[in-house]
This record gives sequence, C-alpha cells and structure tokens, in this order.
Amino acid sequence: MRGKNILIVGILMAGLLMTFSDLFADKEKKMSDAITVIHSRKSVRNFTGQAVSRELLDKIVRAGMAAPSAVNRQPWSFVIVTDRKTLDTLNDGLPYAKMLGKAGAAIVVCAIPEKAYDGRKEFAVIDSALAGENILLAAEAMGLGAVWTAAYPYEDRMNTVRKVLGMPADIIPLNVIPIGYPVGTDKPKNKYKPENVRWEKW
Ligand SMILES: Cc1cc2nc3c(=O)[nH]c(=O)nc-3n(C[C@H](O)[C@H](O)[C@H](O)COP(=O)(O)O)c2cc1C
Repeated sequence: MRGKNILIVGILMAGLLMTFSDLFADKEKKMSDAITVIHSRKSVRNFTGQAVSRELLDKIVRAGMAAPSAVNRQPWSFVIVTDRKTLDTLNDGLPYAKMLGKAGAAIVVCAIPEKAYDGRKEFAVIDSALAGENILLAAEAMGLGAVWTAAYPYEDRMNTVRKVLGMPADIIPLNVIPIGYPVGTDKPKNKYKPENVRWEKW
C-alpha cells in the first residue's frame, strides 16, 4: 500500500515538474517570437492585391488597442477600410500612399484629443502612435505587410482623409496604414547604431 502511495506521489510530482518546464519553455518562445517580429517588421509597399479578411483585420485592431496610453485614456479610434472604391479614392487623394492601389485593406489610426489625458492633443497623438506601431507589428506577425503613411501633421492630407471617411474636424487622422499580402520584395533594415546608445549619462 505504502509503495503504491509513493508511486502516485512520484507520478504527481513528475507531472507538476513537466507542467512547470513547459510553462517556462512557452514563455521563452513567446519572448523570442516577439523580438523576431520586431526585427522582421518593415514598411511594405508592394502588395499582391489580395483582400484581407475581416477576421485578420479585427485581430490587428485588437493589437492596436492593447497599446499603453497616458492614464489609460485610450484616446483613439480605428477606421478599417476594405471597400475597393474607398481605398482607390484615398489613393487618388494622398500623394505618399500610392501603395493603397494594391493593398487589401487600410486602417486609419485616429487620435481624439478630447479623450486624452489632460485633454491634450500631444497625449492623443503619442498614445495613438503607439497603437499604430502595435498595428504594424501585428500585421508582420500575421504574415501581412503594412506601412505607416502620414496624414498628421499635414492639414491637407488630414482633410482629405476626413472628407473621404466622413470624419469630424476635431478627430485627428494620424495616418493611413495600407495592409495586404506582401509580394516579398520589402526587407527589414538593420538600424542598430551603437552611437545612439548612451549608458548611464548623456
Ligand atoms: C510618422 C511616419 C510617417 C511616415 N510617412 C510615410 C509616408 O507618407 N509614405 C511612406 O511610404 N512611408 C512613410 N513612412 C514609413 C517610413 O518611410 C519608414 O518607416 C522608414 O523609411 C523606415 O523603414 P522601415 O519601416 O522599413 O523600417 C512613415 C513612417 C512614420 C513613422
């Protein structure tokens, strides 16, 4: 009987140990995955033209909303555009977003000063930019390509975006992010510069 109990305890202990080691291995994998995605991200300007599903776009904006924001105000909103005609109209009106023609979709990250901490436009823009980077990283992680094309701080480009998307004047469209399946020509740049790192003091 005693021997049987020892055996059961032994099996339980082994099970627990395996669960712990699995957990640690999983954590390490997640960490290396995140670093790999960060270093693989690049601006993708060449797309196949294939549409991007609503399911993937939904996952991407959820990643956007996971970004940090001052006092957790989340002063943002995301306009997801999949309609070909709207994508083409944006393409026609924005000089530096010509990759929209072949993109499967676009996400416009909008900053909302009224919702931001202290009602400050600066926080709205900073927080929404962080959401924008999350969107770029999420697209990369899903095998999609994306590029930040500027609307803010150019009045003319912001007005074009507002007009095409029916957006009120107090909303700041930060960018238009064309998203699509990459043709594979765009590659990440190595931007590591030791001279940009200072330890302890300037
Ligand atoms: C605020 C901002 C504005 C940008 N505007 C444009 C743009 O209007 N058109 C464009 O093709 N790329 C634009 N980019 C993408 C940059 O050109 C790109 O991030 C930079 O060259 C570094 O390349 P990488 O993204 O491949 O690392 C913008 C990026 C940022 C952060």
